[in-house]
Amino acid sequence: MRQALWVSMAALAMLVALYAFGLMVMPGVGPPFLAERRLDMPIALYAHLAGGLVALAVGPWQMNSRLRALSLLRHRLLGRVYVIAVLVGGLGALALATVSMEGLVTHLGFGMLGVLWLASTLQAYRRIRAGDQAGHRVWMIRSFALTLAAVTLRVFLPLSQVVGIPFADAYQAVAWVCWVPNLVVAEWFVLRTPNHSR
Ligand code: HEM
Repeated sequence: MRQALWVSMAALAMLVALYAFGLMVMPGVGPPFLAERRLDMPIALYAHLAGGLVALAVGPWQMNSRLRALSLLRHRLLGRVYVIAVLVGGLGALALATVSMEGLVTHLGFGMLGVLWLASTLQAYRRIRAGDQAGHRVWMIRSFALTLAAVTLRVFLPLSQVVGIPFADAYQAVAWVCWVPNLVVAEWFVLRTPNHSR
């Protein structure tokens, strides 16, 4: 069950990472608003896509305890790659959030997600530098739950269109619903495992 969950999560993360890679290398591809962002904010957009896709591609392997136990050196190397990817992707996200579609509700939703993404990842890095493994684990669970907002957004948004919710309403809701439930699940996961540090 646990393994099936990990495989599904990793597969979805890889799919969204591939989608972002496609958008980077095929400039004609993507939703219409993206053509605007490519012209207005190319640095923020490409930083966001590159950082986001690397965080999504690396994260699942870091979260798997068996893979982690196989090589601590690889875990440390990939961990640094993840932190840099979130810094780059998160700063890009903050810039994009200021002009996101559908106004203030999405600026705030994506903006807060960006701030928490950066803060949780930096906190995870600080904890491990201080030798606090339990704290590092807890903050990385929170950080990766937020990285997975890229997946939940791309599940909820199409679903909202299938059930006929007007796009503007759906997009405003999804700017929050793509990450708040992820954090709730992350907290549940943290609390159900003994020896946690909050
Ligand atoms: C977790 C923090 C994240 C925040 C705050 C965030 C924020 C944003 C914002 C504001 C936009 C522009 C939307 C608009 O203009 O309406 C955007 C677009 C996008 N983001 Fe993120 N994002 C995050 C994570 C990720 C990750 C991890 C990926 C993984 C690759 C990603 C991939 C994309 C893609 C592909 C787009 C282009 C829009 C699309 O085609 O769906 N984002 N993001």
